[in-house]
Amino acid sequence: MSLHNSEQITTGAKGKGFLKTLIETNVTRKLIPKGMSWFGCMGGLSLLAFLIQLTTGTFLLFYFSPSTKESAISSIQRVIHTVPYGWLVLRLHAAGSHIMICMVFSHMLRIFFKEIYRHPRELHWVSGSCLLILTLLMCYTGSMLSVQNIYSNSVARLLPVYLLHIAATPLAMSLFMGMHFFMVKKTGIHEPL
Ligand code: HEM
Repeated sequence: MSLHNSEQITTGAKGKGFLKTLIETNVTRKLIPKGMSWFGCMGGLSLLAFLIQLTTGTFLLFYFSPSTKESAISSIQRVIHTVPYGWLVLRLHAAGSHIMICMVFSHMLRIFFKEIYRHPRELHWVSGSCLLILTLLMCYTGSMLSVQNIYSNSVARLLPVYLLHIAATPLAMSLFMGMHFFMVKKTGIHEPL
């Protein structure tokens, strides 16, 4: 066996051991706290929903063509009827936006009723409120890009709404999420796991 090959095997085995330890310490050997409720998971689930929206949205970005009403509608038809699993990704993206709103609202309600918004977490609440508004804006601009709404709206609105949906709002969300997580890390969570 060449030196090069044996080095590769050693680093491969080391990498596997490192990954195994990382997964065991952070996932498989972590116990779920006894009092943990579904409401307590809604912050994390909101983040998961955002990442799913980002992934499915990026897939749709490759096919959607908003230059004219006709090309926008035919590109959606192509995703539904021709692109493999395109219909599924589109459905996941559309339903996911409503599921995400429910999760963000549940997260906010828990914070409100448990009064976790009080000092030192005022800024978590403010950045969170901006995230809620941006989530609603994402859902609204997304629904404006559905076939029915493209038919009934003027073509002049199509491009600005599209840019708001794929660039400005997700960028603002990423910034506010960065702020939100930075502050959660700084104060720690209210009920440590
Ligand atoms: C896209 C939207 C949002 C995401 C992805 C998100 C995510 C998270 C995550 C992962 C945590 C830490 C774990 C937890 O306590 O659940 C957290 C904490 C927190 N979030 Fe959000 N959040 C969002 C929206 C909101 C909203 C709408 C509010 C309120 C207006 C809010 C207020 C807070 C507060 C006060 C904490 C600290 C909780 C504690 O210390 O236990 N968040 N958020």
